[in-house]
Amino acid sequence: MARIMGTDEQAVRTAAIVLAEGKLVAIPTETVYGLAADATNGEAVASIFEAKGRPHFNPLICHVSDVSMAERYAVIDPQSRRLIDAFWPGPLTLVLPLKADTAIHPLVAAGLDTIALRMPRGVAGKIIAALDRPLAAPSANTSGKISGTSAPAVEDDLGARIALILDAGPSEVGLESTIVKVDGDAVQLLRPGGLAAEDIEAFIGKKLERIDQRSAIEAPGMLASHYAPAAGVRLNVHEVREGEALLAFGPVRASGAALAAASLNLSEAGNLREAAANLFDYMKRLDRLGSAVIAVEPIPFNGLGEAINDRLVRAAAPRIPSMTVEQIK
Ligand code: TXA
Ligand code: MG
Repeated sequence: MARIMGTDEQAVRTAAIVLAEGKLVAIPTETVYGLAADATNGEAVASIFEAKGRPHFNPLICHVSDVSMAERYAVIDPQSRRLIDAFWPGPLTLVLPLKADTAIHPLVAAGLDTIALRMPRGVAGKIIAALDRPLAAPSANTSGKISGTSAPAVEDDLGARIALILDAGPSEVGLESTIVKVDGDAVQLLRPGGLAAEDIEAFIGKKLERIDQRSAIEAPGMLASHYAPAAGVRLNVHEVREGEALLAFGPVRASGAALAAASLNLSEAGNLREAAANLFDYMKRLDRLGSAVIAVEPIPFNGLGEAINDRLVRAAAPRIPSMTVEQIK
């Protein structure tokens, strides 16, 4: 059982001390809960992979408390800097060239010469500032499972393997951060997420280049079968089959909705922000009821709908056994 604290000053101090000892702390961020370790401590970072059961070649996002901390570790080009000024703190991660000889342990970037950096909102920033070191933190869940968006969900999944969880209530955004990389004149979208691609496009005045990382071996966090619940997942459902669990969206129900064994509506009003915040929690709740299939009503692709659909497609993908992942490695 992990110790659970709130987010007051004592909790921040305790988290910083536990992290400085090289132990893991689950910390709330506005996107999802993170399983955090001191990014300069190789053994601590390795224990993230251990706790998650995640293959080692997956590079992790590194969380900073401010821009000057980011500048210690990465080379920030002018376009990335504009994005940082516009969207930090917030659900935007930038992939940047890693400075040579930084204190960040090479395991964090899985040996790449780039580093994914973000500045989260909320108490995480205070913990990082107190520690005065960046935190490597993937989502707080075992590999392949749905990301933790509340302290009880994290405790359920990882409580036996971590020292401390800070509880700030349900995550505000509910989806992982959007990952972009500036490449010359282009800005690439590496992972859709909690900051809508359109918001970035409106700011930079052009389209993002959508990179399909789905088959990229160096980023198995993007493996198709990520985010898998135990139940099968059927997408874009207009007709519910008897006994399915229904993940609904909006005011209008699919036909046969009354035949569902259970149903939860991501957003009665059809609000994508609300739907994003509920997504992982509702998938978990429906999964727990034991139906063989979760049927998902169509979700529009605009705004945060792009990231919601991305996560749903992964949840619906054929399951890749961990053996295969090991073989890829
Ligand atoms: O919202 C979030 O981003 C959450 C919270 C906890 O902050 N964190 C999160 O981190 O999702 P993580 O470590 O699971 O994200 C890893 C993904 C990888 O699958 C890969 O796609 C991308 O970040 N990534 C990390 N480093 C990269 C790099 N150097 N180049 C390209 N992609 C990278
Ligand atoms: Mg994750």
